[in-house]
Amino acid sequence: MNILITGATGFVGQALCPALKAQGHSLYVLSRTPASVVERIGVEVEAHSDAMAFRDTPLDAIINLAGASIAGGPWTASRKQTLVDSRVSVTESLEALCKARDTLPQVLISGSAMGYYGNQGDTVVTEQTPPHQEFAHELCARWEAAAQRIEALGVRTAIIRIGLVLDRDGGSLKPMLPVYRCGLGATLGSGTQYMPWIHRTDLVRIIMHLLNDGALSGPVNSSAPHPVTNREFTKTLARVLHRPAPWRIPAFVLKTAMGEMSRLLLTGARMTPARLEHTGFAFEYPTLEKALQAIVNRA
Ligand SMILES: NC(=O)c1ccc[n+]([C@@H]2O[C@H](COP(=O)([O-])OP(=O)(O)OC[C@H]3O[C@@H](n4cnc5c(N)ncnc54)[C@H](OP(=O)(O)O)[C@@H]3O)[C@@H](O)[C@H]2O)c1
Repeated sequence: MNILITGATGFVGQALCPALKAQGHSLYVLSRTPASVVERIGVEVEAHSDAMAFRDTPLDAIINLAGASIAGGPWTASRKQTLVDSRVSVTESLEALCKARDTLPQVLISGSAMGYYGNQGDTVVTEQTPPHQEFAHELCARWEAAAQRIEALGVRTAIIRIGLVLDRDGGSLKPMLPVYRCGLGATLGSGTQYMPWIHRTDLVRIIMHLLNDGALSGPVNSSAPHPVTNREFTKTLARVLHRPAPWRIPAFVLKTAMGEMSRLLLTGARMTPARLEHTGFAFEYPTLEKALQAIVNRA
């Protein structure tokens, strides 16, 4: 396939691009810094900063992952605007590209997150669960709505609501590992908030599954079948690293230090991959213990 990718240089893209390349696909990348893309992802691609540069490129699929990091700074009004605009404007540029072309790609796989559902307590969350209204939901809903405008042109569109992506060399786990290795791992707040998670390898496999399964479209929860609470996550990571994690950071400390962004740590959704399981997708890392063992013990 000829595949156009946005966000290819990010944590997910850096694993996705080599995996797609290994399957023989040709990759095209939309990036703010096209000159450094090949060096950052380590495989040959054609990269441009303007979506219209791909107007005459034969494209079978688009994978849309670009967006400013939600953990990249306090959620001030202007930061919230950047979080929304960075996702919606890239997606709108893909819509404009599709409209300008003679032929449409067959499939769009577009990003979203567990934040779509907002805080859900311990309710089991499937793709059918109504969202809780809050900023994380609004951000994801506006990103998804922009992708749905491409779907309306006639492109099969799957929206991946991604859980916390785990691997060693990036994402949330990278800064946690040295802290836990020093025995400073801590439960956050009550520790009862759910953290849906996914090993990065399984997320790459889900994206490939969605590229190839022509029957799948709409929202697809992209997280492992066994979400854990923050307390279980803390215990499991400490156990895998053979370190204690006896500490607890009270919610008020995180709220004072991080403001509204502390909701990323103190609230969550018990998201399950109901639609993927229904299609028989087999997770390589269904449990957190197995995922963390593989990540920590990788040579
Ligand atoms: N990692 C997770 O745990 C997780 C969980 C849920 C959802 N997600 C979502 O999945 C997507 C991929 O995740 P990731 O961890 O790979 O993200 P990432 O490492 O933060 O990378 C995202 C990419 O987006 C582009 N980008 C960054 N800021 C931008 C801006 N202001 N405007 C336009 N583009 C910008 C960058 O590409 P260029 O520099 O090449 O332009 C960057 O490499 C993200 O949108 C993220 O929100 C991730």
